[in-house]
Amino acid sequence: MWCTGLGAVTTFSLMVALCCSQFVSQPEIKTEDCTRKEHPIVPYRVLRLWMSEFSHSGAKDFSQLAVDLNRGQLIVGARNFLFRLHLTNISLIQAAEWAPDEDTKLSCQSKGKTEDECQNYVRVLLTSGSTLFTCGTNAFTPVCMTRQISNISEVLDSINGVARCPYDPRHNSTAMITARGELYAATVIDFSGRDPVLYRSLGNMPPLRSAQYNSKWLNEPNFVSVYEIGRFAYFFFRETAVGNDCGKMVFSRVARVCKNDVGGRFLLEDTWTTFMKARLNCSRSGEIPFYFNELQSTFHLPEQDLIYGIFTTNVNSLSASAICAFNLSSITTAFNGPFRFQENPRTAWQPTPNPIPNFQCGTLDEAGPGQNLTERSLQDAQRLFLMNDVVQPITVNPLLTQDTVRLSCLCVDVVQGAGDRLYYVIPGFGPRG
Ligand SMILES: *[C@@H]1O[C@H](CO)[C@@H](O)[C@H](O)[C@H]1NC(C)=O
Ligand SMILES: *[C@@H]1O[C@H](CO)[C@@H](O)[C@H](O)[C@H]1NC(C)=O
Ligand SMILES: *[C@@H]1O[C@H](CO)[C@@H](O)[C@H](O)[C@H]1NC(C)=O
Ligand SMILES: *[C@@H]1O[C@H](CO)[C@@H](O)[C@H](O)[C@H]1NC(C)=O
Ligand SMILES: *[C@@H]1O[C@H](CO)[C@@H](O)[C@H](O)[C@H]1NC(C)=O
Ligand SMILES: *[C@@H]1O[C@H](CO)[C@@H](O)[C@H](O)[C@H]1NC(C)=O
Repeated sequence: MWCTGLGAVTTFSLMVALCCSQFVSQPEIKTEDCTRKEHPIVPYRVLRLWMSEFSHSGAKDFSQLAVDLNRGQLIVGARNFLFRLHLTNISLIQAAEWAPDEDTKLSCQSKGKTEDECQNYVRVLLTSGSTLFTCGTNAFTPVCMTRQISNISEVLDSINGVARCPYDPRHNSTAMITARGELYAATVIDFSGRDPVLYRSLGNMPPLRSAQYNSKWLNEPNFVSVYEIGRFAYFFFRETAVGNDCGKMVFSRVARVCKNDVGGRFLLEDTWTTFMKARLNCSRSGEIPFYFNELQSTFHLPEQDLIYGIFTTNVNSLSASAICAFNLSSITTAFNGPFRFQENPRTAWQPTPNPIPNFQCGTLDEAGPGQNLTERSLQDAQRLFLMNDVVQPITVNPLLTQDTVRLSCLCVDVVQGAGDRLYYVIPGFGPRG
């Protein structure tokens, strides 16, 4: 597991079993531990046995991983480097240097950025068949390249990285490529990082974006993940809450768009017409619930239609973390429910019924080319996108809570235990470094 960040971390470790299946067959951890309410904390020394380390002279900020199971290799994106490693022992197969050129660096520094910021931080690393699609900040001049997966030095294509990769390595972005080859990126589109965007490009669909400079759609978001599930793309993020009366608050969100959205006509031109978002609730119940409002990391377990998330308390309160899991069906329920809507900036946000309570993305068969494919009225699409109902997790209380630390990453593995029981091993990872 790994986390992105502008850290000075120069080695990167990986649990060989990727998702730590051996935990329960391990003498210091008993299977009973897995069913206890108070979960055991496994010391690093114990995990060391399943860890391998990799470092490379001059490389740091190992921020992106992509697994290539066909070739048994792991692709790693670091500052100014890409690596191919053996999946079993993370030993080096190939290193490809990918640094910004001198002119780009100088121009970056002349705009007031530091030497450290004016490097190439890999922020998108996705496999797609026999190619690798990867983007880097490239000294605040984002660029994307398609490379040969069996030889990552071989660049097949190079395109502008704007709206696909952030300028600033600190910005939290995410991206995926769908089975049909469309890139969905959640990032910022401008140098100053004030214009966040959910952007679709490449593939055969028209490029679409979220509404520009509209803080009701996205308000200072930190993007966490994006998944292709059924007819939709789901984005997970945290953002400053709108429609909230108690001062500035950060909420965690899931947003959804139809993959077959073609954008509006006259209204919402080149813009999503199917964008909707809902709040995720991860809290400890009580007379006054204790909220873990800030989503940090997610894990999608498709076999169970579950999304696990690490949530932390707000930055300026006491540190604490929780893991909650959300059923895709409860996400759908929230999207089928009423919207919240504000008539004008002076009035309160009000619940309003959902005009299409069981909204399905229109299909190409139902409408000819150039027609709307999404069944939503554009007037509705423009004003109704925030759901009134909150997505509740599968359990009243979090699956796990941990005081005093802010966990940053998680992965979930289903393990066959004694007596045919299935155990869910949910390692959470502490502060990076
Ligand atoms: C790592 O594993 C690969 C194949 O699994 C093997 O060829 C290679 O020699 C191993 N390297 C080290 C350093 O153990
Ligand atoms: C990989 O690609 C680079 C750049 O095209 C080329 O110089 C090199 O010979 C290739 N390596 C192999 C093993 O094919
Ligand atoms: C990105 O997320 C990390 C971890 O939550 C946070 O510390 C950092 O401040 C975020 N970056 C920005 C620019 O907000
Ligand atoms: C979140 O969940 C808690 C615990 O179940 C519940 O008490 C609270 O009302 C929920 N909050 C929202 C906003 O749905
Ligand atoms: C998720 O929701 C579906 C449909 O309501 C239900 O059948 C399933 O048991 C739920 N899964 C979990 C893990 O709660
Ligand atoms: C979409 O097209 C159908 C049929 O052409 C029409 O009835 C419907 O009003 C249109 N919806 C929108 C959102 O324009």
